[in-house]
Amino acid sequence: MENENRNAQNGMQLPNPHLAQMTDDNLYHFGISRTSHDLPALFGDVKFVCVGGSARRMENFAHYIGKELGVVSANERLPNLAGNSDRFVLYKAGPVLSANHGIGVPSMSVALHELLKMLFYARSRDVTFIRIGTCGGIGVPPGSVIVSNAAVNGKMEPAFETVVLAKGIHRPIIVDQELASQISSCSRTEDPFKVILGKTYCTDDFFEGQARTHGAVCDISEEDELQFVKHLNSQGVKNIEMESAGFFALCHKAGVKCSVVCVTFIDRLSTEDVTADADVLSEWTQRPQVLVARFIKKRLVISV
Ligand code: URA
Repeated sequence: MENENRNAQNGMQLPNPHLAQMTDDNLYHFGISRTSHDLPALFGDVKFVCVGGSARRMENFAHYIGKELGVVSANERLPNLAGNSDRFVLYKAGPVLSANHGIGVPSMSVALHELLKMLFYARSRDVTFIRIGTCGGIGVPPGSVIVSNAAVNGKMEPAFETVVLAKGIHRPIIVDQELASQISSCSRTEDPFKVILGKTYCTDDFFEGQARTHGAVCDISEEDELQFVKHLNSQGVKNIEMESAGFFALCHKAGVKCSVVCVTFIDRLSTEDVTADADVLSEWTQRPQVLVARFIKKRLVISV
């Protein structure tokens, strides 16, 4: 909390004393360094960092939010600011950064560490991070948007488990309830999709880790799958994805506000395979973007 207040007033603060001793810092996976780029000039005005797994989705989001904010014109193409790297992409549309983070917490956390440092060096203030993702749903119609109001790790614990110096450590998963409800309240009765506040189950695997039996190897039965998905349902879990535990825990540790907003591609109570047509998936993928764009415009006091 103390860190959060300082972030609003003095520019982002990070809980890493080693950074103060460094004269340069190579944000290698974005191809940007502290000395090669004027980070305060480039990113000092950033207020929102939107991230998601896929590079193309986050490129599309940058253009979409840019047009919604009136800072990108109809045929304009934004440059990829991470063009020196082929790991992640990075676009800026007014006060919004849009970057991809790949699949799973290990990839996402690399992107998040570097984005946090980028904005720390840029002396950005009062920045909100939002993950815009895709997920499996539980007991909700495919195409629903889930705004996480809780998240648990693969062992169903409210902690992000990682290994440092060969020892397991736990960092608490803290969800900003006010932010989650502000984002979910941007839904409209005329929307062709539901927006649901719910608990997210975060796994380290798409196949057995999410109780699927159709991976390349498998030691669980279809009955195990069914029982487990029913168990998740009974525990109030609304969706399954692969990044929220690390995202919430790292953002909390860094003292920045964050939220996770994902669209469901399937209902795991009835199937395990994502089979909807590409154009249907593409329309569903826009839904969290539409919701988050409304939220950002509301925050920036742009008429919606
Ligand atoms: N992403 C996941 O992690 N799981 C799904 O079922 C769909 C998308």
